[in-house]
Amino acid sequence: MMAPCLLAAETITPNTADVSPRIVGGTDANPADWKFYTQIVNRNSNRSFCGASYIGNGFVLTAAHCVDTDAPNHIAVKIGGTRYNGTDGTRLDVSQIYIHPNFNTTNLANDIALLKLTSAPAGLTAVDIASGSLYQYASDGDFLTVAGLGRTAEGGSSPTVLQEVDVPLVSDAECRLAGGNYTSIGGVSFCAGLPQGGIDSCQGDSGGPIVINRGGNVTQLGIVSWGIGCARPGKYGVYSDIAALKTFVDDIVVGGSDKVHVAFDENTVLSDFIVGEPKQHSFSVQNAGFSPFTVDRLSVSGAGVATPPVIAKDTCSNTTLQGNESCLVAIEFGASEVGTATATMTFEVDKTTTVYKATVSATANPTSGYCSTDWKEDTVYLPKDTATWGGKLWKAKWWTQGEHPSTSGPWGPWEEIGVADCGVTTPVEPPVQPPVEPPVEPPVEPEPPTTGDSYVAGTQYVAGDTVVNNNDIYECKPWPYNLWCGAAPSAYEPGVGTNWQDAWIKR
Ligand code: ARG
Repeated sequence: MMAPCLLAAETITPNTADVSPRIVGGTDANPADWKFYTQIVNRNSNRSFCGASYIGNGFVLTAAHCVDTDAPNHIAVKIGGTRYNGTDGTRLDVSQIYIHPNFNTTNLANDIALLKLTSAPAGLTAVDIASGSLYQYASDGDFLTVAGLGRTAEGGSSPTVLQEVDVPLVSDAECRLAGGNYTSIGGVSFCAGLPQGGIDSCQGDSGGPIVINRGGNVTQLGIVSWGIGCARPGKYGVYSDIAALKTFVDDIVVGGSDKVHVAFDENTVLSDFIVGEPKQHSFSVQNAGFSPFTVDRLSVSGAGVATPPVIAKDTCSNTTLQGNESCLVAIEFGASEVGTATATMTFEVDKTTTVYKATVSATANPTSGYCSTDWKEDTVYLPKDTATWGGKLWKAKWWTQGEHPSTSGPWGPWEEIGVADCGVTTPVEPPVQPPVEPPVEPPVEPEPPTTGDSYVAGTQYVAGDTVVNNNDIYECKPWPYNLWCGAAPSAYEPGVGTNWQDAWIKR
């Protein structure tokens, strides 16, 4: 729900001069001019409660006060929708809401927010937004165009189709004369309207675009923010100044997908394992580009015969990776039966709408008798050939391929001829050593450690390895912590910084 627009709702005294049945004083907009115009609606409704604009890359720009108390899954957008309560336009869901960190709910300074969409289908039209400074695009008195589905008069009702109206840019000095919160406009906001009133945006237009059209080049300069009443003399409409707030947008939206480079292995095949045995894997995500991104919405799931994967360690979720940095997610899964076990990790990054997917799979074999002579799906077996499977030894009765011994009934191609002996070596008892009295060591003064080699950054240490670093001994922890004993990421030098305890135990 939109936060109540208190300032705009103060007094409801419709000016008799504004009996125009339009946005206040506007006309029906041509939908072809406003393909980027976006409505914000509740997830279960078609009724626009705020305006917005599509700026590309799966991001919608709006006013912070429109969405600052909303959850992403409670709202949706309609890009190119120009009918009130209509089903026109492209309806999309929202996965993330970004409010300007300095949004001031008292005077509505920095009234700007971004909505990240769950997908960005091809064919959407985006609007160019201002950067640099407002005055590179317009001078005081120049007409700007604002559109919306808000009230057509102060205290009035909503129109049925998108309305637009041309309002002149007003100097900060003149606008501040209106007093109250108007005295703080200027830095990140601007005003537009006529001194005598009569034309304006109004309640319900908030979040929508105010643009300048210079010879057909449309640039969005502002976002409908607030005003006292609507279209009153001397009380101008206030707009968030996009050029002044552009760094907020740039920090979240990256111009082209080429600027965000997420590197990870899409498909990994692990060695075979045995039903009942745990299989471990560590996914790595790397920022292979230059601009930082934050990994979010990470989850793992199992498919095939995999038991639900468990996350043993996750240094990725909600972690911002600078260029070249990487993070790891260690998982463990098992197999409920013989077959292929697959684990999938999905994640997103804040700067794109892509859902990234990495999978690992491994073949799970029966508990016993798993060996190199095991039956293989693609091998051709000639009569009298043998193969092991399920702990048993089988003999082919005739030419066969792809038929599984354990499902071969009495009329199948396989005949059971004994137990599998496939080199599963029975553990040899270690020879019993006569007990030796441990020599009594003379007590020694603590001295610089000598156990283990000195730590060498970049070496992949294994669990139990001991190293010496800065005169202390460290032991590499067991799995999954040992994953961080090595080179990547390298921020785990024993005893240095804050992360090393994830990987090492000080001895
Ligand atoms: N705050 C209002 C809204 O939420 C927009 C007000 C614009 N008012 C104006 N007089 N220009 O829809």
